[in-house]
Amino acid sequence: MLGAFKINGGNQLHGNVQISGAKNAAIAIIPASLLSEGVCRIENLPYIKDVNYMLEILEKLGSKVTRVSDHIVEIDNSNITSHVADYDIVQRMRASYYLVGALLGRFKKAAVSMPGGCNFGERPVNLHKKGFELMGADVNLQGGIFAAEATHLHGANIYCDLVSVGTTINLMIGAVLADGLTTIENAAKEPHVVDVANFLNSMGANVKGAGTDSIRIKGVKKLSGCTYSLIPDQIEVGTFMMAAAATGGDVTIENVIPKHMDAVSAKLVEMGVDIIENDESIRVKRTGPLKCANVKTLPYPGFPTDLQPLIVALLASANGTSIVNEDVWENRFQYVGELRRMGANITVNGRAAIIQGTKHLVGCPITATDLRAGAAMVIAGLMADGETIVNENKYIDRGYEYFETKLRNLGADIERIDSED
Ligand code: EPZ
Repeated sequence: MLGAFKINGGNQLHGNVQISGAKNAAIAIIPASLLSEGVCRIENLPYIKDVNYMLEILEKLGSKVTRVSDHIVEIDNSNITSHVADYDIVQRMRASYYLVGALLGRFKKAAVSMPGGCNFGERPVNLHKKGFELMGADVNLQGGIFAAEATHLHGANIYCDLVSVGTTINLMIGAVLADGLTTIENAAKEPHVVDVANFLNSMGANVKGAGTDSIRIKGVKKLSGCTYSLIPDQIEVGTFMMAAAATGGDVTIENVIPKHMDAVSAKLVEMGVDIIENDESIRVKRTGPLKCANVKTLPYPGFPTDLQPLIVALLASANGTSIVNEDVWENRFQYVGELRRMGANITVNGRAAIIQGTKHLVGCPITATDLRAGAAMVIAGLMADGETIVNENKYIDRGYEYFETKLRNLGADIERIDSED
């Protein structure tokens, strides 16, 4: 038996749920702390596997990591012993590319093994490479290693050929200790890009314009330690919004920045869901049927690709035909075969999924193929008649804190079945 979630569908979700800190901010901010010789205290960290992996990687490089609580760590990077992150320590973390920006910035050299592609397409780092080269680094990508070295790391004008979250954050991290001014044009504007910039500034960096498509970083000589609290996880918020809408429930999602959810809220309203925004919470309520809608994933402030599998699951039970276009990743519909096993009527044509809504999904054993697809399958299970087993829940554990507990507290019938491995 693989680790799994067992779900008995049909329960409406009701009540309040608290959102954790942003995963994709955490796994950039933890390596970015390497830029400072002081102690960084990071608060509101989500208690998830990807954060733990990233902390282990830093420990292997010589960081002293103190877990103050599940959600607070102190990282002391005064005695880093290595600028090399080997395959055995980074293979579980695709975002280990942030170690390149951090180690190159602080030590002017980095060698970080890169995991290969993933099950929704190639994961190229050509834009990261180009940016570091413009900053004066020699970059080599041979043998699965992202190696960069500079005798003089300097500011540069960098235009990103496409909007990339990882490139924007990595170059920002690399530029804060470089000599002079770096500008990143066509930058990503995701909330966690802004969060990383705020973290860097709280260590003494000079980063301006994060959240717009033009970021300016004036290099400083040295950074200090800091205390920093992460923003809430926009994708976790969206996940609970979808779960409430899917079950015809009434859920108030707390510790939220409603503005971050504009594209998702607008789409759910179009689908017949009531959205009530407060300062730091969003109430999601559905009484009528779900209507079909067309969705196109885009960089922020567009509809997030990380919620694409979840809205597809929701549309699978909506009235009418919907088209979902995936504009960020080349191959992010691999999971639809699992939804089809539950009776979903979905055809994939290149980067588009055509979804003919069906009245009833039927529970059955399915297998998570990645983190967000796994969450989508749980949502399908909550809507379905009968029992759904979502295998490989390890993917879901990478990015959602106490997922089944939070859902159970809202009235879902879901339990964890442990792996026998
Ligand atoms: C981040 O990945 C997130 N991961 C992803 O979330 C998310 O799907 C993605 O941003 C888009 O929002 C983390 O933050 C750890 P990109 P990232 O660089 O930064 C192409 C999740 O589920 N590209 O914005 O790696 C690339 O192929 C994960 O939490 C290049 O061509 O994504 C893609 O088509 C999954 N060359 C597009 O850009 C490059 O050098 C956007 O990728 C870099 C990227």
